[in-house]
Amino acid sequence: MNTSPPFDIIRAADHEAMSQAAVARMVAQLQRKPDSLFILATGGTPERTYQLLAERGRAEPSLCDRLRILKLDEWGGLSMDDPATCEVALRRTLVGPLGIGPDRFAGWQSAPSDIAAECDRIRQWLAEHGPADLCVLGLGLNGHLGFNEPGDHLQPGPHRAELSSESKRHSMLHQARGQPVCGLTLGVGDILQSREILLLVSGAQKAPQLRRLLRPEISPQFPASFLWLHAAVSVCCDEAAYPAI
Ligand code: F6R
Repeated sequence: MNTSPPFDIIRAADHEAMSQAAVARMVAQLQRKPDSLFILATGGTPERTYQLLAERGRAEPSLCDRLRILKLDEWGGLSMDDPATCEVALRRTLVGPLGIGPDRFAGWQSAPSDIAAECDRIRQWLAEHGPADLCVLGLGLNGHLGFNEPGDHLQPGPHRAELSSESKRHSMLHQARGQPVCGLTLGVGDILQSREILLLVSGAQKAPQLRRLLRPEISPQFPASFLWLHAAVSVCCDEAAYPAI
């Protein structure tokens, strides 16, 4: 049995080089298909990649003028303009600088009055506009993808997630004005339906998680391991996250 990971691993020197390599993938996808749908995570890891994509898009307006974006997840209960939201992060780095309007940027309301209805709305949006051409993910310190948190089972579709203790300490929340009450996230099934997946991993604190991901074991206790079930995953990491043995 072949148990080597089915991932294309791109190992760059540092976070900046990783971001350059990641943006090259995103640009290549947009050159192949200008109206690509990207599902995008936020957080510290992809922030620079998105800035670089915005710089490319501003220098070459035709590159991103049909790009569509779906926000992967959100901190439930924060107001939409809370500086910690995924919404604010995407608007600051990509959506604002590229002038992407609501016809090409979709995603979770952060504080919906009816969470089940909001999950249905996102499910329907994805059914109508998906699947994504590229899903850009970060790797949680506990192995989560989006807010698909470790547990006895994972959910396939958009759902409300109980935040793990690690997620409640996430660096994005250091600047939060309020306390999130839950996570709102696409499910593992939604992620796996993307045509291509780009997982970004940076920093020595992620090295144990990346090592675990490379083991041929799929478990809901380590949600990222479900990426083994997808045939087109690229892992773009830096040397700190993937030190030479
Ligand atoms: C946030 C998200 C999370 C992060 C993960 C890694 O939108 O989807 O799953 O990708 O927690 O976060 P960073 O990159 O800050 O280490």
